[in-house]
Amino acid sequence: MKKGFIFDLDGVIVDTAKYHFLAWQNLANSLGISFSEEQNEQLKGVSRIRSLEKILEWGNKTISEEEFTRLMSEKNEEYLIYISKMDVSEILPDVPRVLDYLISKDQGIALGSASKNARVILDKVDLTVKFQAIVDGTNVSKAKPDPEVFLIGAEELGILPENCVVFEDSVAGVQAANIANMVSIGIGDANILHEADYVFNDFTEIKEEFINNLVTAKKV
Ligand code: BG6
Ligand code: MG
Repeated sequence: MKKGFIFDLDGVIVDTAKYHFLAWQNLANSLGISFSEEQNEQLKGVSRIRSLEKILEWGNKTISEEEFTRLMSEKNEEYLIYISKMDVSEILPDVPRVLDYLISKDQGIALGSASKNARVILDKVDLTVKFQAIVDGTNVSKAKPDPEVFLIGAEELGILPENCVVFEDSVAGVQAANIANMVSIGIGDANILHEADYVFNDFTEIKEEFINNLVTAKKV
């Protein structure tokens, strides 16, 4: 059986949330808006535009369209400096083991990320070669929880959505996978990701037997 395994990037393959946090925090502070780690949690899986809108809402600020565009590119420039220093040491534990196991089983592997920087990050951590399809923020028009990013991933793999499995760390991403009729696997806190079909703290908890069951299930 060939199934499609679609991986989110930020928070699943690499812990880039800390860099998004630093860049958003600097931007918020420059506007006199306070920005906490709890608020950063709410930006997981959320597009760049929507993230800035939320920060402005939290700070009760209205700005012109020009300033909005300027701030978005300023935030991204700072973020790019952080990610330019990334290397393989930032891959989250056991992600390569799971990817290599899936490759050894001849399964479909795709990336499904909201980030427009996804390809740069995958290159920095030397994982690009593991993916047969890469769908990122430059390919989609609708943000998670819309299932677009995962449906395109399935299509590019040539595998039906109901035969796909999604790994996600965000609530919006889990919802997108569920709407796409895919098996959703939450990576993180089970209380937060309770809508997922399965939840693991991280990939070290995902054993080969579990993957084999997903691969051989008739309709997973
Ligand atoms: C998601 C992140 O993967 O990508 C969000 O969880 C981020 O925090 C979004 O805002 C967009 O990323 P980027 O790199 O295009 O600004
Ligand atoms: Mg994520």
